[in-house]
Amino acid sequence: MKEKLSKIQVEALEQINSADANLDEIRIKYLGKKGELTAVLRGMGALTPEERPIVGQLANEVREAIEAALNAKKTEQQAKALEAQLKAEKLDVTMPGVAAPVGHIHPLTRAQRELEDIFIGMGFSIAEGPEVELDYYNFQALNIPENHPARDTQDTFYITDNILLRSQTSPVQVRVMEHQKPPIRIISPGRVYRSDALDATHSPLFHQLEGLVIDKGITMGDLKGTLEVFAKKMFGEGTQIRFRPHHFPFTEPSAEVDVSCFVCGGKGCRLCKGEGWIEILGAGMVHPFVLSNCGIDPEEYSGFAFGLGIERITMARYGIDDIRLFYENDERFLEQF
Ligand code: PHE
Repeated sequence: MKEKLSKIQVEALEQINSADANLDEIRIKYLGKKGELTAVLRGMGALTPEERPIVGQLANEVREAIEAALNAKKTEQQAKALEAQLKAEKLDVTMPGVAAPVGHIHPLTRAQRELEDIFIGMGFSIAEGPEVELDYYNFQALNIPENHPARDTQDTFYITDNILLRSQTSPVQVRVMEHQKPPIRIISPGRVYRSDALDATHSPLFHQLEGLVIDKGITMGDLKGTLEVFAKKMFGEGTQIRFRPHHFPFTEPSAEVDVSCFVCGGKGCRLCKGEGWIEILGAGMVHPFVLSNCGIDPEEYSGFAFGLGIERITMARYGIDDIRLFYENDERFLEQF
């Protein structure tokens, strides 16, 4: 019986050694209920009481040896399988990647930030106001009472009789002056609305940038100097500005301001339509009524204001001939800036 047991051990270990996928079969063959080792143990009844514990112990040793060999082989097989899998799934980090497309800021945002930088450099800070505005701030406080003809050119969208989408950034002037004592030196960029039909030069939504300076002894000379510095920074050192008399209800005197054409330098070309000048903004000295409306004494303080169209400036600068291009989000257009 002892010989039988050693034979089983030798055979089993040999088979385990050379096994590949059939480890379970070998386990069943030797250790299973009908396995060879079990059969030997069943025959133990025929042994003498002295022999029984000796053979029993030997049988246990054989079982342990076979189990240990099975486990070792299994671990070895798993390690090999893992290695093969890792080899098969190897990543080639030198392969070219898939580029993630990255956009860039919109030309209008870029123009707005550039404008902000220029005025911040001159000591202005940024003020913001609501796009949904009261009639009072958009019109009345700016010296545009009900039925004033200036309301026609700034017809906008009404939410109620009294609440509207602002047609200009000028209401921010009023909101700032109501809450801040002079000296005041702010710009206010943002969206404005007018009930204009969309065409190459009109849009019901566009962007303006307002400027306001209030202090003791501010004159038209300060306005002119400020705009001159701005125009040179924005359009180039050689740029000149020109004031043309105009009328705004909330400034007196008022002017429309042109810059010398930065393409032809004033000789006349396609961009300036032969004029030599390009209109860029409206400006003037803040009307005494507006100062009083905001609780600022016009005898003590004076100031200037200006308002420019961000689309208009961007279009002039890049020779863009259709305002609709800004809002269509066509990448073939946007990619050019
Ligand atoms: N708000 C005016 C407009 O939209 C522009 C302007 C601003 C004029 C400030 C004078 C002073 O046309």
